[in-house]
Amino acid sequence: MKSQRHFQAQSSDIILSSAPKTGTTWLKALTFAIVTRRHFDGSTSPLLTTVPHECVPFLEVDAVEDSFHRSPKLPLLATHLPYTSLPNSIMSSHCKIVYICREPKDAFISLWHFICKLAPQEEEHVPLEEALDMFCKGISQYGPYWDHVLRYWKASLECPERVLFLKYEDLKSDTLHYIKTLANFMGCPFSLDEESEGVAQKIMNLCSFETLSNLKVNKTGMHRSTTPLATKNDVYFRKGNVGDWKNHLTDEMVQRVDQITEQKFSGTGLMF
Ligand code: A3P
Repeated sequence: MKSQRHFQAQSSDIILSSAPKTGTTWLKALTFAIVTRRHFDGSTSPLLTTVPHECVPFLEVDAVEDSFHRSPKLPLLATHLPYTSLPNSIMSSHCKIVYICREPKDAFISLWHFICKLAPQEEEHVPLEEALDMFCKGISQYGPYWDHVLRYWKASLECPERVLFLKYEDLKSDTLHYIKTLANFMGCPFSLDEESEGVAQKIMNLCSFETLSNLKVNKTGMHRSTTPLATKNDVYFRKGNVGDWKNHLTDEMVQRVDQITEQKFSGTGLMF
């Protein structure tokens, strides 16, 4: 509510939007590396020493703090807010939005692991069945997963020059292509010189799961360490695979999630 009331978007802003556990950290790293590429090289990028969540702050968490200072040079800001809850100024400024989503079963499994890792050690982990039941009923922090995805999907169809809709799975299978798509969409396409120097390839390597998850800052560092929201950076890096749900869900669970996906997405053109 605070961000809805007070956030003043500029037309040059780029909002990175996602439901939790759908590739936010990766999208932050990629877009940060793309927009700052002329200021840093492979050895000086802040991504080597700072978790991507500190490079690109969250609108509804970081930007509402009184002490928050936004870098005037960085147009990026992230949010997990559903499309219909975005601050009005994001709509009225017509700034760009990049949305990333993920196959629902993988998003759920990633979320379940994340919640278990964040829970205090003395607390029992929420059983998978219970967590899935809540996910399917739409009881989650940023609202029902399918509705979150669908509303951004519709916005991207209505206004493709303003809303870029990405899928984690597509980003995994053709990362280089989507790095170029992102650069074009954000208004900073790679020049011919950059193409021949393989700049997009270097960004892909810097932001890969292997590189980021093995950096000291992301293995042992903490994020928002002086606040009640202090979080270990390594919780944002688990496996980074497509299809990990196969290792966790029973046939019955798969059927339940797939049925909702089919029911919610049929006729929308959105498929996983
Ligand atoms: P898994 O739990 O399936 O491994 P978010 O950033 O929205 O919190 O999403 C976290 C998910 O993205 C986790 O998925 C995490 O491992 C994966 N991830 C983090 N960094 C990544 C990267 N650079 N490339 C691919 N996947 C990444």
